[in-house]
Amino acid sequence: RQEADFIVVANRLPVDLERLPDGTKRWKHSPGGLVSALAPFLRNQDGAWVGWPGVADADVEPFEEDGLLLHPVALSADEVRDYYEGFSNATLWPLYHDVVAPPVFERDWWQSYVRVNNRFADAVAKTAAPNATVWIQDYQLQLAPAMLRERRPDLRIGFFLHIPFPPTELFMQLPWRTEIVRGLLGADLVGFHRPGGAQNFLWLARRLAGLEPSRGTVGVRTRPGLVQVGDRTVRVGAFPISIDASGLDAISRKKETINRAAEIRRELGNPPKILLGVDRLDYTKGIDLRLRALQELLAEGRVDPGEVAMVQLATPSRERVEHYQRMRDDIERVVSRINGEFARVGRPVVHYLHQSVDRSELAAFYLAADVMVVTPLRDGMNLVCKEYVACRHDLGGSLLLSEFAGAAAELTSAFLVNPHDLEGVKNSLVEALSIDPAVGRRRMRALRRQVLTHDVDRWAKSFLDALRSEPTPQ
Ligand code: UDP
Ligand code: G6P
Repeated sequence: RQEADFIVVANRLPVDLERLPDGTKRWKHSPGGLVSALAPFLRNQDGAWVGWPGVADADVEPFEEDGLLLHPVALSADEVRDYYEGFSNATLWPLYHDVVAPPVFERDWWQSYVRVNNRFADAVAKTAAPNATVWIQDYQLQLAPAMLRERRPDLRIGFFLHIPFPPTELFMQLPWRTEIVRGLLGADLVGFHRPGGAQNFLWLARRLAGLEPSRGTVGVRTRPGLVQVGDRTVRVGAFPISIDASGLDAISRKKETINRAAEIRRELGNPPKILLGVDRLDYTKGIDLRLRALQELLAEGRVDPGEVAMVQLATPSRERVEHYQRMRDDIERVVSRINGEFARVGRPVVHYLHQSVDRSELAAFYLAADVMVVTPLRDGMNLVCKEYVACRHDLGGSLLLSEFAGAAAELTSAFLVNPHDLEGVKNSLVEALSIDPAVGRRRMRALRRQVLTHDVDRWAKSFLDALRSEPTPQ
């Protein structure tokens, strides 16, 4: 058995097992920002990745891919339903995203979450070399840090949350709030995207972790950025994630990408302006809002249907969770209303693809788009907007970005909008569509300066340096 000195643990492996109708299997790139960010960074590391292969009951032995050792953790069909679709994505996901949809609290889902987190902790405990560094990722595995520490006190354990950490009054709704806080406090370093998330967590640690006598008290004290749990010090901080900016910049400069971008414009009928949305089909992303903004602008005659085309790429996601199904129906209804009313034969206004595209095709879409529309109601970071900027080596294009994406704190030269304010979104869209090219270039230059100097390697290095350094003495 091969032991690893550096292990990433995430609900998903970077590749997803796909079972084709003819019974054969193949691996494909996993969806979502976590994998997009971590996979390129890990390619240059000597490490292992522990995660679920993306389908129920997959019995897969550890294997190597791209120099990375992958350790699959199997989930049963019931666990996929209760731990993944249930507790992770119908309880925690909506709760942590400002209850954009009502979270559902189910005891059976929680029990499954405990069971699966224990399984991940077991898998890591078996795989880690003595004194290894283990980096646990995201909301699906918040109990794993403490479970792993119990099994392997020699390990250096980091935890990073890729989604927003909610305001304390929302977190307090969770019936299992104390267990979650204690689970996270098993790490040596707990990282969030934004300082506000770190502050919320510090408050909760003080309030919850030591104060429930029925569970036995541990002396918990907090100082800025630190929680003292008995004789252990847990550090807490903000580490805004990013992308492989230079890799994408290079792809976008390739002749094939530039040609493909021109081809996309032609395929769309060479409209003067192209709007682009790229998201997992998720109710937090505000896809419906941006479509409604466009619909109203068309109806009011402020945007001419002959002058724009909108492309919305919506990657299929969590399709068995009810709210996702409802959102899909909603979006598809608005798309067909817009096209029903404003399209001409062979010239739809909205080009909607419920599909996933690969990185180079995506880069070509980014390069072809005049306005990138990113309107989440809440998003931990949002990598798509940073990817758009990284691809605009030509300094073309404008970014319209929700204030409620973590990225808004960094991308201040974007058109920042409040997605709840439909009139505001419409006005900014019109402004972005008619921007003076010289002003647009200035804004894009400022955005690129930020994105190209704050890439994912810098993020990972700052987290891992903090994790491996000793905490300051009390
Ligand atoms: N993405 C992709 N193909 C697609 C659509 C999206 O590879 O067809 C990638 C995109 O490049 C980005 C990620 O999916 O890296 C989405 O990350 P983001 O942080 O924006 O949102 P998340 O899905 O993690 O909520
Ligand atoms: C977000 C989450 C990730 C998740 C990804 C895709 O980025 O933060 O943890 O992997 O979405 O979602 P999925 O449920 O398909 O893994």
